[in-house]
Amino acid sequence: MMDWTDRHCRYMHRLLSRRTLLYTEMVTSPALVRGDARHLLRFDPSEQPVALQLGGSDPVELAKAAQMGADAGYPEVNLNCGCPSDRVQSGAFGAVLMKQPALVAECCAAMIAAQPAEVTVKCRIGVDDQDPEEVLPEFLARIVGAGVTRVTIHARKAWLQGLSPKENRDVPLLDYDLVHRMKGLFPNLHISINGGVSTLEHAKELLDAGLDGVMIGRAAYHNPTDILQAADAVVWGEDMGPEPVDVVLQMRDYIEAHMADTTRGGGKLMPVVKPMLGLFAGRPGARQWRRYLSENAHLGGAGWSTIEDALAAMERTAA
Ligand SMILES: Cc1cc2nc3c(=O)[nH]c(=O)nc-3n(C[C@H](O)[C@H](O)[C@H](O)COP(=O)(O)O)c2cc1C
Repeated sequence: MMDWTDRHCRYMHRLLSRRTLLYTEMVTSPALVRGDARHLLRFDPSEQPVALQLGGSDPVELAKAAQMGADAGYPEVNLNCGCPSDRVQSGAFGAVLMKQPALVAECCAAMIAAQPAEVTVKCRIGVDDQDPEEVLPEFLARIVGAGVTRVTIHARKAWLQGLSPKENRDVPLLDYDLVHRMKGLFPNLHISINGGVSTLEHAKELLDAGLDGVMIGRAAYHNPTDILQAADAVVWGEDMGPEPVDVVLQMRDYIEAHMADTTRGGGKLMPVVKPMLGLFAGRPGARQWRRYLSENAHLGGAGWSTIEDALAAMERTAA
């Protein structure tokens, strides 16, 4: 998720769950091919498995970008066919690609041919006045024909005119049934569902009903502990992740290394702290934790001791 699932966020999420698949923010293929690839592709090895999400619609450029992702160590490269923002529409990628399944198939085939990482797709059920019952099976058949074996379906349409990106995540109705029917039509395609899942229990129900995966976006960001700490246990029958306070303590080396790093993006506490703000959501002292960090993490001199102070402020309230 743009501006949210950056490498700091993913590093912390991985501490909570070893098994869940994490995704980068969308990186556009022009930005990657012509821009600062080292910065855009940067991740910590402990984040694995982590998938690189690409935005684009030029097969040659996407193939090159996928190759760069694979070279950097990403085991999966995901093509975004779901983002409705204006900026993305003007570049002819994201959700508008639901209208061009043949081009998407061409892009996927080129990406698959160019490099060894698995190529996956994230899509909507349709856009604008398209009939999802018609276009979604056709879209899936096309990408399967191109060699894609895994897809994530955001189970609502996107309206490319008239709704903001934010509204496009809530306003169009969710149609989970259609996604379940796609699993029936494409039994060999690994289908993950996305949209509106805000508890692990709900995710488990969807898996038990036959879907292969569940992608959780906003809830995992806002309530990382509730979604991720028990994910390995509930979904894979493995051990629970650590308590949030232990996650904070396990972040210490990472944070101190980040603070000492003077290259681009380093040296500032706030970017690392931002995804940590929700760690204690719903738990005693959560508000104090969030408030203390929001008020202090951007100040000059902020560092690990700021986090210790936030923990202390939280514990005082909780006691
Ligand atoms: C701040 C923000 C940024 C997002 N950026 C992306 C993105 O880069 N790529 C993408 O495929 N979806 C992106 N999304 C959409 C989410 O991945 C997801 O499809 C949507 O929020 C619905 O799932 P949820 O109800 O679990 O949040 C973003 C959502 C938010 C809130």
